[in-house]
Amino acid sequence: MFKTRVCELCGIEYPIFQGGMAWVSDYRLASAVSEAGGLGIIAAGHLTPDEVREQIRKVKELTSKPFGVNIMLMSPYVEDIVKVVIEERVPVVTTGAGNPGKYVKAFKEANIKVIPVVASVALAKRMEREGVDAVIAEGMESGGHIGDITTMVLIPQVVDAVKIPVIAAGGIGDARGFLAALMLGAEGVQMGTRFALSKECAVHSNWKRMYIKAKDRDTVVTGVTTGHPVRVIKNKLARKFEEMEKQGASKEELEQLGAGALKKAALEGDVEWGSVMAGQIVGLLKEEKSVKEIIDEIIEGAKKLLSENCARFGG
Ligand SMILES: Cc1cc2nc3c(=O)[nH]c(=O)nc-3n(C[C@H](O)[C@H](O)[C@H](O)COP(=O)(O)O)c2cc1C
Repeated sequence: MFKTRVCELCGIEYPIFQGGMAWVSDYRLASAVSEAGGLGIIAAGHLTPDEVREQIRKVKELTSKPFGVNIMLMSPYVEDIVKVVIEERVPVVTTGAGNPGKYVKAFKEANIKVIPVVASVALAKRMEREGVDAVIAEGMESGGHIGDITTMVLIPQVVDAVKIPVIAAGGIGDARGFLAALMLGAEGVQMGTRFALSKECAVHSNWKRMYIKAKDRDTVVTGVTTGHPVRVIKNKLARKFEEMEKQGASKEELEQLGAGALKKAALEGDVEWGSVMAGQIVGLLKEEKSVKEIIDEIIEGAKKLLSENCARFGG
């Protein structure tokens, strides 16, 4: 059940991706998700090309199943990371923060599936023309860098605009969200926030505690004035950001405030002055679960929901 073109394309059992999350999704989380039947994705983020190679090799030691690498196109090492990914024959590449157009040919020649994250119909269509295999359409409910349209309205519009498979991201945390995304026409989902609160995720325990405490309205979008809006949990850093943005701080001043802040929260556990990126679905999450529990609950829950609702609506 729930076999879609995304399963076929990536060689995975369930159409569930674990979104690449800089400083959060390393080889431990990625290998666990792939082992559980989804697609685990290492975040290349701001790692050096050698560090990315090491992460890839560690995943290969822990699973023989397909996995992915997420490349942030604004990384200063992007050219070399692309080379490493090709040399290591990574099965799937997802990209964030930009247009991966100029690398598509090289990836395709190496038989690597390319799946960019898009936040608009126009970019999805452009990516399709450039020859990518699928797109991840990400709504503004997501954690991390975001666009300005919600998942609910973005997915059906992207689905109608392209022929390649669409994977929905943003605001999905359980079986209900998974099924809703499929009903909107997506052929898979990508979750970030839910997987960040998993046992296999090596993020700092302070970060996980903050996720468990967070309620529906506890995230905020900072960085709108810099042109790089980011969804984070409200804390001292986010308030300072908001205050400085209101006072008309320059892009440079704001970038300086945000520099290194994600690593500070994710690895060092400074969840007041670090950047605790999280999606709005964080309010739904009450406990840390294993990756296998998360995936199994989604698949089993979705089957149950489908049959209950067929009965309820006269199927
Ligand atoms: C802590 C965190 C870090 C993220 N870092 C990245 C990243 O490095 N590259 C990227 O393409 N997306 C990144 N994202 C977005 C996720 O890959 C995913 O698309 C998103 O979290 C989906 O929305 P959700 O959080 O509502 O599940 C990040 C998200 C979070 C929560």
